[in-house]
Amino acid sequence: MIDHRPIVKRTLLSALLIVVLSFGNKVSAQDGKTLFQENCASCHKVDKDLTGPALKGIEDRVKDKKLLHAWIKNNQAVIASGDPYFTKLYQQWNKTPMSVFPNLSDTDIDAILKYIADYKSPAPTGTPGADPSAPHGKMGESDNAILYGVLTLILAVVAFVMLQVNANLKRLSDEKEGIPSGEPVPFYRNKTYITLITLLLFVVGGFFVVKGAIGLGRQIEYQPEQPIFYSHKVHAGTNQINCLYCHGSAWEGKHATIPSVNVCMNCHLTINEYTGAPIHKEDGTEVDGTAEIQKIYAAAGYDPKAKSYTGKTKPVEWVKIHSLPDHVFFSHAQHVRAGKVQCQTCHGEITAMHEVKQVSELSMGWCVNCHRETKVDFNNDKGEGNKFYSIYEKYHHEIKAGTRDSVTVADIGGLECQKCHY
Ligand code: HEC
Ligand code: HEC
Ligand code: HEC
Ligand code: HEC
Ligand code: HEC
Ligand code: HEC
Repeated sequence: MIDHRPIVKRTLLSALLIVVLSFGNKVSAQDGKTLFQENCASCHKVDKDLTGPALKGIEDRVKDKKLLHAWIKNNQAVIASGDPYFTKLYQQWNKTPMSVFPNLSDTDIDAILKYIADYKSPAPTGTPGADPSAPHGKMGESDNAILYGVLTLILAVVAFVMLQVNANLKRLSDEKEGIPSGEPVPFYRNKTYITLITLLLFVVGGFFVVKGAIGLGRQIEYQPEQPIFYSHKVHAGTNQINCLYCHGSAWEGKHATIPSVNVCMNCHLTINEYTGAPIHKEDGTEVDGTAEIQKIYAAAGYDPKAKSYTGKTKPVEWVKIHSLPDHVFFSHAQHVRAGKVQCQTCHGEITAMHEVKQVSELSMGWCVNCHRETKVDFNNDKGEGNKFYSIYEKYHHEIKAGTRDSVTVADIGGLECQKCHY
């Protein structure tokens, strides 16, 4: 019998390596997108000017990688240093300040830059209202999957050929030395190959089953049509109505509830037609804002002609977009009020969306990653910050002693299972 063991070992190792590598790549590509959405998307798009310039081709405009990193971390310092390119850019953008990002590591920035470099604009559909950032993420991912599939196949064929060659060589050398070799076994009956193929199918199959199972019930990019075409862009964007005016319970408690029609009527008792900029749905059709406002009256049981309430109300059946499984505890107040996390960090640039779209994955990894990275408002010696944290004496001592410079959510127990799970 021919001893295949060393080859088998090596093949298995390289197969493992391929799997690990492709997982690793997925993670960093995803992180770049997430980081971009969390930190930059409020002002930048890749392919369009927003509050800040379109970032496409940035690495061609700013060839000095160090300078680019310095700019993203602390643009104020770069402007202060008088760098000619950025000083001019700053003038061109009417001295609109960009935020500073001291928390972003070089790897984070590289991930963001990679996301920008790999970004492909979606095929133009001619819909003015369409959000160009929408379909791309999925496309990029499936492209990668195909690439890895093909690569794995090629490597598998190469490995197979090598094994055959090796077996033949071994037989030849055995014959030369006069060692009798057994009957050659055709490859499809060779136990080694059968084992290998079974293992491979098991790994690949398992990967997709697990991936599919985890994805069940998740609905990133979910953007259902609502019974009234209520635009966040018109209200929270153009008209700058504070989120908490309608979602005040996000400040008070666990849920950020949807306002009742009475809240709408506070304004729409008088605003009975829409005269703002034309609104287009994702599919390009124009929305008749005035007709949509009439739906509020139908729901509130208000007769705009008689200017009186009829008492015949019909609650609006808004479609819920974000939802966590029942076994997860999540509190808005904890994040918005205690944690001072902006709504946009988790919900994306709502003020630029006509219809709300879920931009975050709402997966456990998403929660946990943020808890690992985000610093809490730890009160310092000057008595600033959240007083509640004075119970963490150990950290105060460490900060005083200079062995610690910040406290993350993870440090205060934000990774403990029972904090998030009932
Ligand atoms: C508060 C809005 C804002 C945020 C948030 C923001 N930027 Fe900017 N950014 C700007 C503005 C405005 C400019 C134009 C220069 C200026 O006025 O400061 C700019 C310029 C840039 C430039 C130079 C563009 C060019 O064409 O040369 C880069 C690169 C950049 N930003 C990257 C980022 C990255 C990466 C993030 C997220 C980590 C980010 N920005 C977050 C507003 C922002
Ligand atoms: C004038 C009232 C109003 C204001 C102001 C407002 N919203 Fe809303 N919001 C609504 C209504 C009505 C819905 C339900 C319909 C929908 O999903 O578009 C909603 C839905 C949402 C949802 C989706 C809820 C779900 O089903 O998962 C999010 C997230 C949201 N709003 C965030 C915000 C943020 C962030 C702001 C501030 C930038 C804001 N809203 C300002 C009225 C308002
Ligand atoms: C704080 C005041 C205010 C509140 C509260 C308010 N709106 Fe509006 N709404 C406006 C303004 C201002 C406009 C724009 C009018 C214009 O530009 O002609 C508008 C426009 C609209 C329009 C037409 C444009 C569009 O978004 O399609 C609809 C529909 C609408 N509102 C629905 C609602 C609903 C539903 C609620 C309750 C969830 C609500 N509004 C609450 C002030 C308000
Ligand atoms: C740390 C991330 C995070 C922040 C910050 C955040 N949300 Fe949410 N939001 C969520 C999650 C997660 C859900 C789904 C909650 C669920 O299903 O229990 C959600 C759900 C909602 C909903 C649907 C109703 C509900 O509570 O289930 C609305 C409306 C909403 N958020 C508005 C807001 C507004 C307005 C702000 C800012 C004042 C805000 N959110 C800040 C993560 C966040
Ligand atoms: C954008 C960052 C961010 C995301 C995303 C996020 N959190 Fe948090 N979370 C925080 C911050 C900041 C705090 C600390 C608030 C404070 O100071 O009390 C916190 C605190 C908590 C706490 C209290 C922890 C403790 O030790 O008291 C729970 C529970 C929690 N988060 C659950 C969740 C869940 C569940 C999700 C995902 C659905 C989530 N968080 C997503 C930033 C985040
Ligand atoms: C910061 C909040 C948070 C912490 C801490 C946390 N989880 Fe989760 N967990 C979640 C969320 C959110 C989901 C729902 C994910 C989804 O719907 O895909 C989840 C889902 C799960 C699931 C269901 C499988 C899945 O991925 O959907 C299991 C099992 C689980 N968590 C176990 C744990 C264990 C064990 C720990 C402690 C080591 C833990 N969790 C800590 C937020 C958390």
